Amino acid sequence: MVKVLFVCLGNICRSPASEGIFHAMVTKAGLSDMIDIDSAGTGAWHVGDPPDPRGQAAAVRRGYDLSGQRARKVTISDFEQFDYIIGMDSSNFADLAAIAPEASRDKIKLFLDFAPNLSIRDVPDPYYGGPEGFENMLDLLEEASKGLLDEIQHRHFESQAASQ
Ligand code: 4NP
Repeated sequence: MVKVLFVCLGNICRSPASEGIFHAMVTKAGLSDMIDIDSAGTGAWHVGDPPDPRGQAAAVRRGYDLSGQRARKVTISDFEQFDYIIGMDSSNFADLAAIAPEASRDKIKLFLDFAPNLSIRDVPDPYYGGPEGFENMLDLLEEASKGLLDEIQHRHFESQAASQ
């Protein structure tokens, strides 16, 4: 089992959308028994809240149901539990690196590094902006999710398939 944790600041906009998109792609690829997916926030303001209604509405229009998700804060045990801990922007990355046990530092990634064709590295936080910010967010997350799934398939599953 490969375990993936998406992390943003509030766990109500970017990381729950990443969880929903990546979950749909993993399911479509027939890998839902092999890849475990969750999301969390570095901040605690929204713990227990469902994803932002604007993000849920934009996601539903693309076929992703985020309604069952509830925000939680990152814990130290997450660094042991998960194989990929993926921040949405460089601030999330720095916050994660500051609390990560030394042995888990290498697990921390920047999500858009899985979409090297894009010209930006940070997923902009849509929380204080208009609806177009949520569409842009979903575009970026869909692109990075494809790259992440390719990477996981390549690193964790292709060598197994080749040796069978
Ligand atoms: P997210 O967006 O990190 O993508 O979930 C935010 C949502 C809420 C806040 C900040 C970012 N907030 O400060 O309440």
